[in-house]
Amino acid sequence: MELLNGSLSVVMHVFIAALLLVYLPISLVWRLLRWVLVRPFLKEDMTGKVVLITGASSGIGEQLAYEYAKRGASMALAARRERALETVSAKARELGAPDVLVIAADISNPSEANRVVQATIGRFGQRNRQLSLLHRMP
Ligand SMILES: NC(=O)c1ccc[n+]([C@@H]2O[C@H](COP(=O)([O-])OP(=O)(O)OC[C@H]3O[C@@H](n4cnc5c(N)ncnc54)[C@H](OP(=O)(O)O)[C@@H]3O)[C@@H](O)[C@H]2O)c1
Repeated sequence: MELLNGSLSVVMHVFIAALLLVYLPISLVWRLLRWVLVRPFLKEDMTGKVVLITGASSGIGEQLAYEYAKRGASMALAARRERALETVSAKARELGAPDVLVIAADISNPSEANRVVQATIGRFGQRNRQLSLLHRMP
């Protein structure tokens, strides 16, 4: 019995030493390399998620809409110029956005800003829980 206990103890010590000296360093180096070399080239999958983009009718907001559309996100697009938003919305759908809500609003007015958020929750809040505010304009 004592011999068996001694053998088990030796096996356990060898196993723990192997884990600490071989597996953990290799695993850490592998994770680090993957994080540095692979992660920057992976596109985040936004399928089933919703983004709310203000200032979406032109410039940075418009480009953000297209990038998130390519990743499969649904989106609410807000700005004052409704016609420009409709154009962005059509292109976003073409690029892969399953559902796009256009909201014409002047977000310098707090009640308008609140309306934008409420309209977005009203449209997407029940089906999609993750809601991100991505772009804020002055
Ligand atoms: N482009 C760059 O390289 C750069 C670099 C650094 C910083 N920035 C800053 O980033 C911001 C955006 O730049 P951008 O190039 O994307 O400008 P932009 O093309 O003029 O876009 C501004 C967006 O904000 C919307 N907007 C402005 N006032 C609004 C309001 N009161 N309510 C709702 N929407 C409003 C505009 O839409 P509507 O007119 O339809 O309302 C438009 O969609 C600016 O503050 C700029 O100074 C830009």
